[in-house]
This record gives sequence, C-alpha cells and structure tokens, in this order.
Amino acid sequence: MNKKETIVAGIRASGQPHIGNYLGAMKQFVELQESNRCFFFIADLHSLTTPFDPKSQRANALDIALDYLALGLDPDKSILFLQSQVAEHAELAWIFNCITPLGELERMTQFKDKSQNTKTESINAGLLNYPVLMAADILLYKPSGVPVGEDQLQHLELARVIARKFNSHFGDTFPLPKAVSNKETLRIKSLSDPEKKMSKTGDEALLIVDSPEEIRRKLKKAVTASAADGSAPGVENLLLLLGQFGSAEDVNKFHAAIKDGSIRYSELKDLLAERVIEYFKPFREQRAKLAANPASVLEILAEGARKAKVVASETLREVKEKVGLL
Ligand code: TRP
Repeated sequence: MNKKETIVAGIRASGQPHIGNYLGAMKQFVELQESNRCFFFIADLHSLTTPFDPKSQRANALDIALDYLALGLDPDKSILFLQSQVAEHAELAWIFNCITPLGELERMTQFKDKSQNTKTESINAGLLNYPVLMAADILLYKPSGVPVGEDQLQHLELARVIARKFNSHFGDTFPLPKAVSNKETLRIKSLSDPEKKMSKTGDEALLIVDSPEEIRRKLKKAVTASAADGSAPGVENLLLLLGQFGSAEDVNKFHAAIKDGSIRYSELKDLLAERVIEYFKPFREQRAKLAANPASVLEILAEGARKAKVVASETLREVKEKVGLL
C-alpha cells in the first residue's frame, strides 16, 4: 500500500466523548488511516498535568482506546499506542526543554488559562512544559501533518518553532509539520442550552456510548424554543445533527415543514434519535465485544508501542548524536 503522508495525533482522554467530539475529531482520525501512515496515541503523560487519580487515569486510557478501536481504528492500518509506553517521548521532551525559551511557554494561552483556573498548589511544572512534550510527540515521527483543533494550533506552532530552532542549531533534522484541519468544522451545541457548545456534563450532551434509551430520553428534552431574536438555535442544532446522522432527504423534509409551518419538533427529535441510534449501533456492539476482553486491547496497545518505538528510537538516536550525547 502506498500511504501518502505521515500523520501524528495525540488523544487527550478526558471522560466519555460526545457526538461533538466524534464529529469534530474522532471521525476524521478513522478516515485518515485509509490513505496515510498514522501514529495515534493516547496522551496519558499529558493527563498527569492536571489533578488525577490513578484508578480513573487507567480507566480513562482504556476507555478511549476502546472507543477508537470500536469506531474503526484498525491496528493493521494505523498505529495506536499509549504515549507512556514509548519512553522516547519523555526523553526527547527533556532535550527540547533545554532549547525552549521559558518565555515561549509562559505566554501559551492554554497554560495561562489553566494556571489561572487551577489552585496555585496544583500548578505544576508539567503544565508549563505540556507543549514541549507535545512537540516531542509530534517531531519524533517527522510527520507532514497533525490533525488538531483550533485550541491546539498555538501548541503546534510552538512545535514548529522548536523544530526550526533545533534544525538551525544542530543541522537539518525535522520537517515542519502542518495542521491538518477538519474539512467541516461543525459547531455542535448543547441540547439544553443551544447558545453554548456541547460539553460533557449532564443531559446536554449525547455521548457516543449512550444506549438507545438514553439517546431518546435526552433528545426528547432538547430545547427547541425560539430565542429572543426569533431564531431557533436548538432546532438548527438538531437539523445539523440530522444532516450528519441521517439523509439529505430527512433534512429537506424538515426544512420544508419549517417553511410551511407544519413542523413538529417531536417528530424531528424522534427521527434524529432513531438515526443516531442506528448510526452508532455497530460501534456499541463492537465496543461491548472489546470491553469483554480488555487483555486483547492491552495487547493491541503494546504492539502499537513496539511499532512506534522502531521509528521513535531512530529519531532519538539521531537527535542524541547531533546534540553531543554519547
Ligand atoms: N494537547 C492535545 C489535546 O489536548 C493532545 C496531544 C498531545 C496532541 N500530544 C499531541 C495532539 C501531539 C496532536 C499531536 O488535544
């Protein structure tokens, strides 16, 4: 197979993904593996930068691996692993730390936000160095593209700054990776407050693991009321979702009904629920199968780490030699 480009993406596990996460990133990852050489890893070292407990740390990492595998990430097509199982990530991060100006890290938006919103005693050096580890994650595999959301563009830019700096000090080593943006960035809104983005709390989000009953129940409660200016963001949101999980015909039918005033929101919700249920049915089945055999998932991750290590150790060897480590 002739795979076009090398792609690297880190997955930050933080609770069960919702359909906004799915449409915004997860779906794209699964598509990318078809024609690219993909390195996907669960950024479990990054997870340690914010308060955590060991039990849920483990559970979250396994859960997200299950999610991706059940969505169709295929270990024969792409490499899936845990960042912590390829020690080269942390080792290259250290070397990068030593060529990264402190000021670059202090001005990162995510660091400023998180350190403002975190109790002072919980702000650790890992939070500051987060983007350096991310630069190592990326550059180890010398990718041409990195799929990242808008919130991570600044970190990707820093990875390019570090690559350029390394290249100019120690000789050409790293190609500069580009952001791979999602063709369609959908803004999926909360079901209960459609002025806001969907987030992971309560009934306002449809999770990809939700059972058919949960999906029906949450959609029944979705807000469809018009806003003060006469717009109906909740309805628009449901139609946007119907466009993703249903057919064009489904959507046209409701657009026509809105025009002639015959729309019944309960019908829209019912149809959307059935389409979402149907869409994620193979996922739910596959996920249950994998969950029944966690050892097989751990083995997939271990095998992924072995494959990633072949590439990562070669880059690290080259770096060490260039910086004068014996
Ligand atoms: N910081 C990324 C996020 O929060 C996750 C991540 C870690 C990542 N390392 C990466 C993404 C390398 C892309 C490439 O989403």
